[in-house]
Amino acid sequence: MLRFLTSGESHGKCLVAILEGMVAGLSIEEASINAELARRQEGYGRGGRMTIEKDQAEILSGVRWKKSIGGPIALMIPNKDFKINELPVVKKPRPGHADLVGAIKYGRADVRDILERASARETTARVAAGAVCKQFLKEFGIDVTSHVVCIGGVWAATENLNYETTKKLSLHSPMHCADKKAEKKMMARVDEARKSKDTIGGIFEVLVKGVPVGLGSFVHYDRRLSAQLCAALMSIQAVKGVEIGMGFKVSENLGKDVHDEIFHDKKKGFYRKTNHAGGFEGGVTNGEVIVLRAATKPYSTLMSPMQSVHIDTKERQLATVERSDVTAVPACGVVGEAMAAFEIAKSMLEKFGGDSLIETKRNFDHYQKQVDVF
Ligand SMILES: Cc1cc2nc3c(=O)[nH]c(=O)nc-3n(C[C@H](O)[C@H](O)[C@H](O)COP(=O)(O)O)c2cc1C
Repeated sequence: MLRFLTSGESHGKCLVAILEGMVAGLSIEEASINAELARRQEGYGRGGRMTIEKDQAEILSGVRWKKSIGGPIALMIPNKDFKINELPVVKKPRPGHADLVGAIKYGRADVRDILERASARETTARVAAGAVCKQFLKEFGIDVTSHVVCIGGVWAATENLNYETTKKLSLHSPMHCADKKAEKKMMARVDEARKSKDTIGGIFEVLVKGVPVGLGSFVHYDRRLSAQLCAALMSIQAVKGVEIGMGFKVSENLGKDVHDEIFHDKKKGFYRKTNHAGGFEGGVTNGEVIVLRAATKPYSTLMSPMQSVHIDTKERQLATVERSDVTAVPACGVVGEAMAAFEIAKSMLEKFGGDSLIETKRNFDHYQKQVDVF
């Protein structure tokens, strides 16, 4: 089974990801991991940290002569801002962060012990592991992208764009947004929030193209790939809601306007003209583009801090202020891509098995032939 763990603190020495269960024979280069890490650092609205760091991964193990060898793949990203032992003690937990619950749960007198690990700097390691998964998916013609559809209530009009156009237009946007007009308004919204010493959230969309029919299963709750993907996105710090396809809007529409009619053509096989289901029926992929959306809350580190309580004296005091982003929804999208790539790579390996890329590809090709003649 494919799995990964991360280790490291926000201002610790480094972040580490260990990806276990990846097939042997996959080309893995630091450059393609670094390209993803650079995308995670982008986005209008970031704080000072992103100007300090220039994330670069070092492959520590599991790869020889630029090919995976079947063992665990360890990736390390050093922190330039390594100063965990020089930072001040934190006693005033921020509402909305893991600060207070973490300090109570782990019995820590210094909230820094909590916030250093709860920080979303951890997502650097997720993106590194996800970059390897993306490389694996590429071998099967599967591509993953993301874009921002809403920031602080400003919506992009991107519903009618196809996968390629969305990817192209959002790739070089400072807001990772495929709608130029909305992008400007979103940036103005970020400026307003910064000026008022506040933060804003938003919604990002993850799209996955080229997924075969039949990943996941309806036979058990824990085999629904749609549910696994939702859990993976919900695990991203600050994400508070996830939708697939038409999402919550299904509840407002008639059945005939929700379901995607089925067509068949000799060349294409079975296909749909709409994709309200977002690529899933019965928790199983139906071959259409997977469409996932996730909403992130406004971050809890406010430059104009909210009320809190000193954990020792129990006096009312304002919460601690740490360096912080006004918003990081574009980066959250890149993390979402990594999580989706991991879940889909795991599902591909569950279905097709194999210890080497050649073996997995052989099994995949046989299955595709079976699908083609259905
Ligand atoms: C890419 C990314 C960047 C983030 N940057 C910040 C930040 O600068 N300041 C902040 O307070 N929270 C930030 N967060 C969110 C916090 O990490 C998160 O709210 C916190 O860990 C509590 O978890 P919860 O919101 O899921 O309950 C960021 C999240 C992500 C995914």
